[in-house]
Amino acid sequence: MSDKKVSLDDIVSLCKRRGFIYQGSEVYGGLAGTWDYGPLGLTLKRNIMNLWWKTFVDDREDMYGVDAAILMNQKVWQASGHVDTFTDPLVECSECKSRFREDQIDTAKCPTCGTADSFAEARQFNMMFKTNVGPVDDESSVSYLRPETAQGIFTNFKNVVDSFYPDLPFGIAQQGKAFRNEISPRDFVFRSREFEQMEIEYFIDPKDWEKIFETWVNDIEAFLEQLGLPKTSVHKLEVPNEDRAHYSKRTIDFEFDFPIGRKELLGLAYRTDFDLMNIQNNSGKSMDYRPKDGSPALVPHVIEPSFGVERTLMAVLTSAYTQDEVNGEERSYLKLPVHLAPVRVAVSPLLKNKPELVAKAREVYAMLKKEYGNVMWDDNGNIGKRYRRQDEIGTPYCVVVDFDSLEDDSVTVRHRDTTKQERVKLAELVARVKE
Ligand code: GAP
Repeated sequence: MSDKKVSLDDIVSLCKRRGFIYQGSEVYGGLAGTWDYGPLGLTLKRNIMNLWWKTFVDDREDMYGVDAAILMNQKVWQASGHVDTFTDPLVECSECKSRFREDQIDTAKCPTCGTADSFAEARQFNMMFKTNVGPVDDESSVSYLRPETAQGIFTNFKNVVDSFYPDLPFGIAQQGKAFRNEISPRDFVFRSREFEQMEIEYFIDPKDWEKIFETWVNDIEAFLEQLGLPKTSVHKLEVPNEDRAHYSKRTIDFEFDFPIGRKELLGLAYRTDFDLMNIQNNSGKSMDYRPKDGSPALVPHVIEPSFGVERTLMAVLTSAYTQDEVNGEERSYLKLPVHLAPVRVAVSPLLKNKPELVAKAREVYAMLKKEYGNVMWDDNGNIGKRYRRQDEIGTPYCVVVDFDSLEDDSVTVRHRDTTKQERVKLAELVARVKE
């Protein structure tokens, strides 16, 4: 096994070559900070998002899902503090007019034109994308593309309580797009202008916050393990007071050893009653929750696990990218967990110009496709090339129908990680490629 570390270039080039992720609007020269998912990237992304939803919503009794509108009343973002404080420090070179985030460069010298001392004092740049809703372009029609999915949860807190009367603690979960006009989008999908989040607002009685916060640390760690991320690559950073978001009393950033270094993967924050109180004060509507046991009404506090889909996907690809040697030849492959692999099984006839093999392989393909959905028909090139291609996209099993299959109703199953092959009876095939 080679211990060469995976580089960002390895991942970007694999993603492009094999149809995972393309640059947004590439045909017109691209649009910085935007990315398009191809067939395999989309399936991998969906597999991650579905696993998250199953783990944190479907498998629990205390979770409720919502899917709120991306465009929201501007009062949402005034009340949440985003209009005033969701900013990054922007500097502009007086010589070449290039703009940067102040904390990402050495301001002594412009990284674009090399001019020394060309930056004036930073100004605060609001990262929300502003737009107008409806035909009139004035202040009253201003809206923003949401920079976090969280506010669509808070604004539906009362609706969910009124419809379902859940006991505290309970959570509301949402997955969906978020938009930030990042000054310097960079590092592939790691810092994009359009991305997806998976967020939970977990409503609690404040007296329980410390205990529940710890439970969430454990739940998050268990989920990251399901994604196949090695424990040694995940690090918890206790975010110091001065670096925490304006609403948080405690934050742990879960960092991951990405090819670009150790960086934030997701955050876990104790948001107190900051958001519900802001909504109450600005909307005039009570956010009181009345416990069923008759104890006094309260505005619940909130623990917020906030995952970015793109960073999770990048961590999954980084962990899965493996290089080894097979028969003296270097091979790179994605050692994805079976439940995340975009293609679970590839089915091939040994030779594509033998109609009897093709017909039998088509039967096998139809049987597996009906069971698993993400099954690929692959008859391009010779068998060796097919294996290499499937290894590269992380397909755990390749099934080959050969002349013996016509006699003995068995097929060859080739395993991605070991490259070992075994004969499997068709009657046992569906179960054999389960996990
Ligand atoms: N509701 C809390 C919140 O939005 P955040 O730390 O600003 O907190 C949460 O964002 C997560 O969203 C991050 O940990 C990261 O995974 C993801 N994220 C944030 N900005 C991003 C960007 N520009 N590109 C890709 N992912 C981003």
